Amino acid sequence: MNYRHAFHAGNHGDILKHIILARALSLMIAKDKPMAVLDAHAGIGRYDLSGVQATKTGEWQSGIAKLDDDFAPDVEAVLEPYRNILAAMNLDGDGRYYPGSPEIASQMIRATDRLIANELHPVDAAELTKNYAAEKNILVKQLDYLQAVKSELPFRERRGLVLIDPPFEVLDETLRTAQALEFGYRRMATATFMIWYPVTTEEFAKQFVDTMRALKIPNMLWCELRIKAAFAQGGLSGSGLIIINPPWTLENDLRILLPALAERLGLGDWGRGQVNWLTPPT
Ligand SMILES: C[S@@+](CC[C@H](N)C(=O)[O-])C[C@H]1O[C@@H](n2cnc3c(N)ncnc32)[C@H](O)[C@@H]1O
Repeated sequence: MNYRHAFHAGNHGDILKHIILARALSLMIAKDKPMAVLDAHAGIGRYDLSGVQATKTGEWQSGIAKLDDDFAPDVEAVLEPYRNILAAMNLDGDGRYYPGSPEIASQMIRATDRLIANELHPVDAAELTKNYAAEKNILVKQLDYLQAVKSELPFRERRGLVLIDPPFEVLDETLRTAQALEFGYRRMATATFMIWYPVTTEEFAKQFVDTMRALKIPNMLWCELRIKAAFAQGGLSGSGLIIINPPWTLENDLRILLPALAERLGLGDWGRGQVNWLTPPT
């Protein structure tokens, strides 16, 4: 396990995932009923963009640094929950601290909700535990994600969201992700599942999306953001999210968000944002 998220925090793939996670959770907490969130690949939760790791890659310059200026009001409405979390972490307004997925969930859940934050890397799991040990409704686990999905689903609340956000370090990650999703869905078909994937090469992205579609799970929404040409050794050219059982209205939010992000983050005229159903909505 070499991957450490601190090198990548706030990059264009991260902000796509985090904006949509915050928006989805804001829609889900609009209902009174308690819910749970399983963050199956949590990382450490909070990142310092002026730290050694983030500074070494500077990846956040292609992501969060580009959100300084306001978008049109309809886009800002979609961004609002995410912007609120950034503001709460950066009270002096310098944007130094960046929220990972467990931080987003921890700030959005209510006292009646639960967050299970799972992270396998021992050093990051220890840091995650330190960051959230004081929170009564946050439980940190250190399991392989397949095991985490098996042990936590179905949620006793019978409502909730599962984020699957692997580092794609191992060759069979696409298949393992499909297994985790299939297993999780069988355990709790009403949960919302969000799965992130990187666009490194066209072949990889196509194969990932085709594998998810082939699971034939209904109600699978898909969005993808590209910022530059995809080629081997070209780094992260884009990323996508597959969302099963998206909260009502999220599709419309994504149709507003994706073109705006593509225009703002795309290099030259390379920006592309698309939203489609991989399997029909129910
Ligand atoms: C892309 S990062 C997660 C970022 C985090 N979700 C966020 O948005 O802030 C992937 C994380 O998964 C962890 N990881 C790697 N293999 C894992 C496994 N088999 N099960 C659970 N976590 C794993 C890595 O250590 C890394 O912290």
